[in-house]
Amino acid sequence: MPEEKLERISEAEIAVHWHEEEHYPPPAGFIGQANLTDAGIYRRFSPENFPDCFKEYADLLDWDRYWEQTLDTSNPPFWNWFVGGRLNACHNCLDRHLPRHNNKTALHFVPEPEGERIQHITYRELFVRVNEFAALLRDFAGLKRGDRVTLHMPMVAELPVTMLACARLGVIHSQVFSGFSGKSVADRVVDSESRVLITMDAYHRSGKLLDHKEKADLAVAEAQKQGQQIDKVLIWQRYAERYSSETPLQPGRDFRVNELLPKYRGRRVEPESMAAEEPLFLMYTSGTTGKPKGCQHSTGGYLAYVTGTAKYIQDLQPEDVYWCMADIGWITGHSYIVYGPLALAASAVVYEGLPTYPDAGRPWRIAAELDVNIFHTSPTAIRALRRAGPDEPAKYDYHFKHMTTVGEPIEPEVWKWYYRVVGKQEAVVVDTWWQTETGGVLSSTLPALGAMKPGSTGPAVPGVYPVIYDDAGDEIPAGSGKAGNICIRNPIPGNFQTIWKDPERYVAQYYTRYCRDRNSKDWRDWPYLTGDGAVLAEDGYYRILGRIDDVINVAGHRLGTKEIESAALTVNEVAEAAVVPVADEIKGKIPDLYVTLKPGFEKSLDLVKRIEAAVVAEIGPIARPKTVQIVPDLPKTRSGKIMRRVLAALSSDQDVGDVSTLANPEIVEAIRRMRGA
Ligand code: WTA
Repeated sequence: MPEEKLERISEAEIAVHWHEEEHYPPPAGFIGQANLTDAGIYRRFSPENFPDCFKEYADLLDWDRYWEQTLDTSNPPFWNWFVGGRLNACHNCLDRHLPRHNNKTALHFVPEPEGERIQHITYRELFVRVNEFAALLRDFAGLKRGDRVTLHMPMVAELPVTMLACARLGVIHSQVFSGFSGKSVADRVVDSESRVLITMDAYHRSGKLLDHKEKADLAVAEAQKQGQQIDKVLIWQRYAERYSSETPLQPGRDFRVNELLPKYRGRRVEPESMAAEEPLFLMYTSGTTGKPKGCQHSTGGYLAYVTGTAKYIQDLQPEDVYWCMADIGWITGHSYIVYGPLALAASAVVYEGLPTYPDAGRPWRIAAELDVNIFHTSPTAIRALRRAGPDEPAKYDYHFKHMTTVGEPIEPEVWKWYYRVVGKQEAVVVDTWWQTETGGVLSSTLPALGAMKPGSTGPAVPGVYPVIYDDAGDEIPAGSGKAGNICIRNPIPGNFQTIWKDPERYVAQYYTRYCRDRNSKDWRDWPYLTGDGAVLAEDGYYRILGRIDDVINVAGHRLGTKEIESAALTVNEVAEAAVVPVADEIKGKIPDLYVTLKPGFEKSLDLVKRIEAAVVAEIGPIARPKTVQIVPDLPKTRSGKIMRRVLAALSSDQDVGDVSTLANPEIVEAIRRMRGA
């Protein structure tokens, strides 16, 4: 195989051998109660009615000032939705529900320790807590509209409280997944220029009370090194009445929220009236190259889109108890635990811990105890629960009407277990494909309208018009069995507005590949590149095959290969590093790391351990490589490019193809022998 060809083989090619799966009709019981049973929605949201169709989503919200223009495309590809409109996201998630839902549970907080009481927080209680904390953020931390603040919080009720308090003030929150290291937090603090870090002393995970505050100290020190000063660290206490971390407080910098809060008791803060296009939050995600990028999401477009999709795709209704097991540290949690559900006045579950703790029956006990009827999780969690407790769901008396899977492709076998065993064949399943960048779902069946097909996400959701291009920019038609680069033809309200402080990268990475005319002001000339490979079947259903760029999707979490490689390079002895994805039964993909050493250094177990530790310290345990292979050289092209595809084939014991055009073909065999040893 010629070099370039070898390099271009995408994950796409694996899937073409999958066979077609049969369709499953949505259960009648579900259809009878669904929010959306009118197939006319596809016509209402057809290209002829674009962009005005999205009025339907915007009208689910309260606007302080109604908008004048649905979509402004005068500065492509920086689209603006609902121009002229003003609103506040916190008001839409709380204040406006008080007249009807004052006493209704907004959040059920489920602690990991089973002996600890579940907290049922009403809309009134959440409103009170958010207002008090907003007063504290404003008057004590000096935060105001447009400021950025970094959050590094676990899955506790205080996280939505914090996000909503920020939204109330117009402060842009940037929540970093709690499993990420202090170093990762620092990078995001620096990029967003946050002066305040909000964290928690400790939280429960897998049976342990983890010291979380220690990561804040690392984050502050590292941010300082990179030139960003953190003035205040606000620390929520996992147990309101005591400090549960071993890490000392630094006077003048560290403040315990629960100690300060009594001063703000009963305080109310007017929600800031935000322009629709003012940012609501940043969510950092891994991209093709270099450091994570801050996806900037708007207030109006984003909130309208997540509310509309939560209503129609998740079928959220005020009577439902909805549990999304994702972490709020990822986009799924932002859109479909916090903003979408609360905008619809639903009751959402926030679970602190590991799904399989203390055993694989835990999720089903929680579902039975809280009468959860809508369930939402990832293929990784489904695989783990299936392996650890294939027969557990049947032992518990719960009934789901609706289940979601999100984050990675789901194998049809795993889908079927989810449908049959977890859903007891009573629940409709939606496989939702989307991204941090898009804010909300791009492809999924409409639960009461479309038949389910295991392993396929379904058609595009209303108002989203995808296209699959081959590398030459020609459209790949439905039913061809060929995979290609899936793009979205049109702007959608949920899509991010730009990469924080890097508009050029935003344009370059997402819009130039298939742009027909850089001077065009017509959105039709600016398809959005998702970075995923996909195939479109005859029946109009998409199968998403995975990333075509240098991103490894580990358990539904995107990690950049560059980030992991740079982490390995922080170890002094390491000269070069290359990371490749390798299939994992539970997590889908995990990173496998190859390194070469600088001259004069010998390989040793200690060195392997230090490299692994460096990756964990820089990024977090989620990036821990399956193996660290210290090799004499890496396979390279004649121009010196590392051939990750060859390494990937070695890691998965697959055929590496013809490597004779490499600069150092002999190394391939050498590495294979070393791996076998
Ligand atoms: C992948 C998560 C197959 C895809 C919401 C995408 C999926 C990346 C699915 C985004 C799905 C997400 N089927 N693959 N249903 N959902 N993906 O930004 O590769 O964390 O580009 O957003 O996950 O991951 P992100």
